[in-house]
Amino acid sequence: MIFDSNYDLKGESETLRLAENMANHLRPGMNLYLKGELGTGKTTFVRGILRGLGYQEKVKSPTYTLVETYNFEEFNICHFDLYRFKGVHEWDDAGFREYFNKASICLVEWPEKAGQVLPEPDISIELNHESFGRHIHLISYTSIGAKCLKAII
Ligand SMILES: Nc1ncnc2c1ncn2[C@@H]1O[C@H](COP(=O)(O)OP(=O)(O)O)[C@@H](O)[C@H]1O
Ligand SMILES: [Mg+2]
Repeated sequence: MIFDSNYDLKGESETLRLAENMANHLRPGMNLYLKGELGTGKTTFVRGILRGLGYQEKVKSPTYTLVETYNFEEFNICHFDLYRFKGVHEWDDAGFREYFNKASICLVEWPEKAGQVLPEPDISIELNHESFGRHIHLISYTSIGAKCLKAII
């Protein structure tokens, strides 16, 4: 860990606001992993990032397709939900490795389901249920990830 930060998110709108803010500081090639039980707001956070980048349409949860790609001028966003990931053989068969490249930003829900095949994240986003809403812990593992977290205001 290089740098971390914590926020209390009182309602969905605060989750979206933090994610929209973070969207302005993302750079091509970054990998962000989203951890937390079902219903903690991982997909909501991805929706906030996409909104922050100007995407206005509906954001589908890639529950069965496992990945959904969004094209922007400077990079692609690849949104993974690996909850139904069956095993590492599927990783190469589906060509997922190619998604992790310099031109893309990968946002991965349930990274723990893919075991060791995933590269190290720049930022890990950990969400937890609280009485007031959600708690979020943002942890950076690279200098580019730390720079992003420090830029969030
Ligand atoms: N800070 C928050 N406080 C309360 N509810 C929230 C908060 N952030 C998101 N939610 C709600 O949590 C629910 C589940 O969100 P979702 O993003 O689908 O979770 P996950 O992808 O982790 O399963 C949604 O109804 C969403 O509006
Ligand atoms: Mg989800």
